[in-house]
Amino acid sequence: MAGDREQWTSKIGFILAAAGSAVGLGNIWKFPYLVGENGGAAFILLYLICIAAIGLPVVIAEILIGRTAQQNPVGSFRKLSGGNPFWMSVGFLGVLTGFIILSYYNVIAGLCLGYVVESVKGSFQGISPIQAGVIFQRFTQSSQTVIYHGLFMLLTGGIVYFGVIKGIEKSSKIMMPMLIVIILVLIVRGITLPGASRGLVYLLKPNFSLITGQTVLKALGQAFFSLSLGMGALLTYGSYLSKRDNIPTSALNIVVIDTGIALLAGFMIFPALFAMQQPPDQGEALIFNLLPPIFNYIYGGYIFRILFFVLLCLAALTSTISLLEVITTFLVDEYKFKRKTVVVIGGIVVFLLGIPSALSYNLLATIKISGLTIFGALDYLASNIFLPLGGICIALFTGWFWGRKNALVYIHEGSERTPLGLMKLWQCMVRYIAPILIALVFLNSIGII
Ligand code: TRP
Repeated sequence: MAGDREQWTSKIGFILAAAGSAVGLGNIWKFPYLVGENGGAAFILLYLICIAAIGLPVVIAEILIGRTAQQNPVGSFRKLSGGNPFWMSVGFLGVLTGFIILSYYNVIAGLCLGYVVESVKGSFQGISPIQAGVIFQRFTQSSQTVIYHGLFMLLTGGIVYFGVIKGIEKSSKIMMPMLIVIILVLIVRGITLPGASRGLVYLLKPNFSLITGQTVLKALGQAFFSLSLGMGALLTYGSYLSKRDNIPTSALNIVVIDTGIALLAGFMIFPALFAMQQPPDQGEALIFNLLPPIFNYIYGGYIFRILFFVLLCLAALTSTISLLEVITTFLVDEYKFKRKTVVVIGGIVVFLLGIPSALSYNLLATIKISGLTIFGALDYLASNIFLPLGGICIALFTGWFWGRKNALVYIHEGSERTPLGLMKLWQCMVRYIAPILIALVFLNSIGII
């Protein structure tokens, strides 16, 4: 079975594809608005703690499960647990979470596509953030959200249709460096605007009085979301990895790239935001209201703005393909469907599932679930509940179910030169630290402790 499975052609190909999955709207769209809604520097600090103490060890665990089993999430847990239904249901939960995330994520990706078109049309030339807010409202209250959601689904399906190596690996290689360059340009511009220093203070000086149990849960959920962790995406990518590759160093690379880009996005947004005297808590609209006007302060802003939204689309695309890939490998491996059939039907199902999210700014805006729109509720459920839940199970599986010796044998493959002490530290993290911290955050957020 494993013999005819595709494998990454190089280690760097794997790292870039996994980093491509991790880096996306989560870093550039979601991280800044969560920081803006949850108190700035203190939230960033919590986020970094979650990344280091929970994210990195669980990233290693998830990739390791995939590489050891060389299967989709459900198949991997079946193979490695000897068909234990509990562990298999962890795989199922992952695939289900993939459906949910892709359905609303793709809507925002579609919005970015719409912003490419608006940028080309020149709609943002010379406007202020307030006027940009009006454009955002007009855009999200029209049926364009559904149309662009459909178009983006076509793009995603198109790439997954052609398979892992040809589609995903190649498309991940050029886009990310370009995106980073343009973010750096925006950071320099933002920081040099008059009044920007208050934004730096906001990013660097924590005020813990704003932190509640819910804030900690959001930081944890965002760590999982941003790392594409907890639902089998990294497991699936790991299943195309060879036993010669070093998992701990690959994982470290992925985590550093992902976290670095989220932090850069923070520095791209907040100095400029404070310079323009805008409020930080604008929710999902934040980057859409703020970034288009900032380009007006840059020489050649018209072109840079188009380029930025094109690259944002591409960053989102490497993430949507990873989500669709999980669903696809699952159906191909488990039910022996043809890959191409699955992509077409899966794409249509996800498109339909995403329509309520696409309409949650207009037709369905009045529907609220615990105070959240349909879009917000799906995001909350997937990011803050399902992903950490998946993460705890992945940690327990590698930490306890496998047994101490087995886990060390598997992780040792390909990383023979990594010191044993570090491996043991990892094991201690997945056995104790990560599960206990996740459990504490859960209990704390529902007010039990
Ligand atoms: N991590 C991606 C981002 O930050 C989103 C994403 C892609 C994702 N695949 C995932 C999130 C799997 C959770 C699980 O944009």
